Amino acid sequence: MKICIVGGCGHVGIPLGLALASRDFTVTLLDINENVVNEINNHKLPFIEKDADVLLQKHIGKNLFATTDKSVVESQDVVVFVTGTPVDEHHNPKISDVLKVIRAYLPLMNKNQLVILRSTIFPGTTEVIDNILKKQFGTSKLAFCPERIVQGEGIKEIYDLPQLISATSDIARKEATEIFSKIASKTIDLEPQEAELAKLMTNTWRYLEFAIANQFYMMTEGAGFDFYKILNAMKDDYPRAKYFAKAGLAAGPCLFKDTMQLSAFYRNQFFLGQSAMLVNEGLPNFLVKQMENKLGSLKGKKVALLGMTFKPDNDDIRESLSFKVKKELEFKMSEVLVSDPYLKGTMSACEAIKKADAVILGVPHSEYKTLKINKPFVDCWDVW
Ligand SMILES: NC(=O)c1ccc[n+]([C@@H]2O[C@H](COP(=O)([O-])OP(=O)(O)OC[C@H]3O[C@@H](n4cnc5c(N)ncnc54)[C@H](O)[C@@H]3O)[C@@H](O)[C@H]2O)c1
Repeated sequence: MKICIVGGCGHVGIPLGLALASRDFTVTLLDINENVVNEINNHKLPFIEKDADVLLQKHIGKNLFATTDKSVVESQDVVVFVTGTPVDEHHNPKISDVLKVIRAYLPLMNKNQLVILRSTIFPGTTEVIDNILKKQFGTSKLAFCPERIVQGEGIKEIYDLPQLISATSDIARKEATEIFSKIASKTIDLEPQEAELAKLMTNTWRYLEFAIANQFYMMTEGAGFDFYKILNAMKDDYPRAKYFAKAGLAAGPCLFKDTMQLSAFYRNQFFLGQSAMLVNEGLPNFLVKQMENKLGSLKGKKVALLGMTFKPDNDDIRESLSFKVKKELEFKMSEVLVSDPYLKGTMSACEAIKKADAVILGVPHSEYKTLKINKPFVDCWDVW
């Protein structure tokens, strides 16, 4: 079976493509980004994804291909769409982006192909796309099977996690189930809007978990207490607090925008979600305030900012709040010494610390754990 993944060289496309190739499907990663397509064809991963390299070396050029040539769509049995689904500057879902991509490929598609939507989409989008396909072909074979992997651990999770399957017809559900049964631990049936909501609610719940930790961090630290002393006492042998999150910059390309998508679905009356956004987006400002409490005016001071990616031990800087910390520090007229082992052109952690008057931990990469900081620092992650 030939499967083409549109947006295939992105963070979701590559793990999915590798997993499908490992089950002997013939997979084509179709992408508009020529650079990443070339990298993949040169046996190189464009970003860090654990355990992906072995699969790439094994399958590329054999039953896994990458291309920018749209015409490959014509000869496929299955077309999967995994392009980005952002919100706009007013936090409204940009459904038009998804529809634009579908419409761009429509002339190359045919009615026998199974179409699988894999991006995280606004509730109702599957139905709208079903309508577009029916208008074009008189019929539609459409499934929505959301991706739920966590970035960086995608290869392990794609095999371990159950796959939610929804579809607009029995035949589409049957075919999608056959495909995902080959890679996922099990499949779970839902209707399209239920699956769209399940994915958004999963990400939103996670965003809220971080928000409550961040709110308590700011509440307690702001009142002069040691948040982690209190949190550790709360969690000690107390099962119901076992999974209470640590404070930290909660960012990245998914959690914020998916919470806003859910809010839009609920006519912007999702107060918990909106509040979580205010809390999480407010943490950078609080960290800079904490630094001011330690140093006084930041004007002319050198501050080392360690960790610019949105999560530890990963090279993805999309929507990272470390950049917001940097902006706020610069607005206070301090000189920011940026360091991140995953970001080219930044200084080493040791050099930044040595030159700085103080240090802020942006993200807790593993290599930071052993650093000895002998000057004032702000560490909302409890590493130092
Ligand atoms: N990143 C994650 O861990 C993750 C996890 C679960 C779900 N998701 C969801 O998956 C979707 C994709 O996210 P991502 O992180 O993989 O994004 P990404 O930006 O890493 O990948 C999207 C890819 O699509 C390509 N693209 C854009 N327009 C195209 C077009 N017209 N034709 C072909 N290729 C095109 C881009 O060049 C890019 O390589 C989003 O809806 C996201 O919310 C992401």
